[in-house]
Amino acid sequence: MVYLTRRERFNSAHRLFNPKLTDEENNELYGKCANPNWHGHNYDLFVTVKGEVDPETGVVINLKDLSQIIKTKVIDKLDHRNLNVEVDFLQNTIVSTENIIVAIWKELQVELDKTPARLSKIKLVETENNFAEYYGD
Ligand code: NI
Repeated sequence: MVYLTRRERFNSAHRLFNPKLTDEENNELYGKCANPNWHGHNYDLFVTVKGEVDPETGVVINLKDLSQIIKTKVIDKLDHRNLNVEVDFLQNTIVSTENIIVAIWKELQVELDKTPARLSKIKLVETENNFAEYYGD
């Protein structure tokens, strides 16, 4: 079994905000990230898949195919967007790094299930100091 990772990048605006809480409670919980006028991040997304190396091609999955799936299902929808209001698969979600990777996993898994590769790990780097990882459970 070989693990293969592809990095893609996107820039997005967002705000951490729970509509069930008051403005004061949101400020208490999320600090500056609750700023009503949004803020942005340059995200690094690392998608790791696993699979057997095909003896004919020498690869687990064609990297062009993997990149295309990530671009179509994720990057095109998130890049230069507001994550709170513009992304179909993030509707009614608190757009924390944690929730974003779980949502991205679901989007990618559907497409990757049609390929020889299996989704193994997603890592999303939000800032130099903060990132989250998800393994599907
Ligand atoms: Ni933020």
